[in-house]
Amino acid sequence: MEKLVIEGGYPLYGDIEVSGAKNAAVAILPAAIMACKGVCAIDNIPDINDTKCILSIIESLGAKVSKNNNSVIIDSTCMTSVDANTEEVRKMRASYYLIGALLGRFKKARVEMPGGCAIGVRPIDQHIKGFEALGAKVKIEHGAVVAEAEELIGTNIYFDVVSVGATINVMLAAVFAEGKTILENSAKEPHIVDVANFLNSMGADIKGAGTDVIKINGIKELKGCNYSVIPDQIEAGTYMMAAAACGGKVNINNVIPKHLEAISAKLIEMGVHVTENEDSITIESSRDLKGVNVKTLPYPGFPTDIQQPMTTLLSIAKGRSIVNESIWESRFKHVDELKKMGAKVSVENNIAIIEGVSKLSGAKVTATDLRAGAAMVIAGLIANGKTEISKVEHIDRGYPHIEEKLNRVGAKITRIKK
Ligand code: EPZ
Repeated sequence: MEKLVIEGGYPLYGDIEVSGAKNAAVAILPAAIMACKGVCAIDNIPDINDTKCILSIIESLGAKVSKNNNSVIIDSTCMTSVDANTEEVRKMRASYYLIGALLGRFKKARVEMPGGCAIGVRPIDQHIKGFEALGAKVKIEHGAVVAEAEELIGTNIYFDVVSVGATINVMLAAVFAEGKTILENSAKEPHIVDVANFLNSMGADIKGAGTDVIKINGIKELKGCNYSVIPDQIEAGTYMMAAAACGGKVNINNVIPKHLEAISAKLIEMGVHVTENEDSITIESSRDLKGVNVKTLPYPGFPTDIQQPMTTLLSIAKGRSIVNESIWESRFKHVDELKKMGAKVSVENNIAIIEGVSKLSGAKVTATDLRAGAAMVIAGLIANGKTEISKVEHIDRGYPHIEEKLNRVGAKITRIKK
């Protein structure tokens, strides 16, 4: 089990390069198996455990995968298996995208129930509702989702909740449905647009991704393409929080500033100097921070995936801040860890009330999930003394080379392999 040991208290100066988006890549890689002609050459894949996991699952289904740094070539022309049942499938949430991809291409999928971060009940009823509306029969059998259809027929589907996963998954299956599918009350996150652009590069006909109405004209086959994944909005947002918390001046490069507007707006409200450039954002902070209120919302609102790092930042901001988590019901596990470091936070239901303190002090803490882990890294960077973070494997699921990127701008983080 590895640990991160952080010696806190140093300001950050310099440049951080943001990698490709995890939540786009974990959908694009399963989507690549829908090509029955040619190969997909995909660039800007983040080097994280979640993408390694998805690639290993795709290989177990019979696709040929060759990886070179951040690029991957996937040849799924000879693939025949529709049964995703390895340990990796059960480990990660995004393995559910294999249901849409396999159901679309082969009209049959058997995928073990997905795992992922423990941040609340994570139902997939909206995914199933969409597959069934397209004409599939879906059942849960021996711990796996089994979806099957003689044919998929396009239709109008209204999602009862705004769901990133359901929007992408049903879009995948609908690519091969006969006629037109209209997805209403769709999620609008940047990675949904990225997946739609990828599918269109393969020959799909999808319009409206990025709005709440997505229209898909069914086609008969997809072919390989060349594609580059968009930058990771959440990785960028996490480093924006780190720079604001530590003080100093950091350029966060390879970003799409438009995707970061909700985060930038909150930082500006807190007194941080934020400059948007064409494909980078500069954060300048004197650490004289003002408390603010935050409510997480689907895009373009404040992202739930930044809520945990934001709580750390607010723990050292002057006055009272209120954080309302409206997407996940159990995403405050990092608060108990922050309290070990001297933060004053109380949680009632989905609301955290934070009374800013002037400093945190280093302690032994746990990364209880992916973004909680990022929150603890930021806490370690600003704390007096030494912080030791265990369960680093959660952080490695979503942040490529986190200690190297932060050490390059002045952090003092060591990975201990035990
Ligand atoms: C995606 O999860 C992301 N994961 C999550 O990021 C992110 O927190 C979440 O979207 C919200 O932005 C991936 O992309 C792999 P949802 P997803 O379906 O798709 C309810 C991270 O830190 N819901 O948009 O699983 C659900 O309970 C991860 O990188 C249903 O009720 O989330 C939740 O309250 C963690 N029925 C809300 O919708 C369903 O069928 C939003 O969930 C599906 C979802």
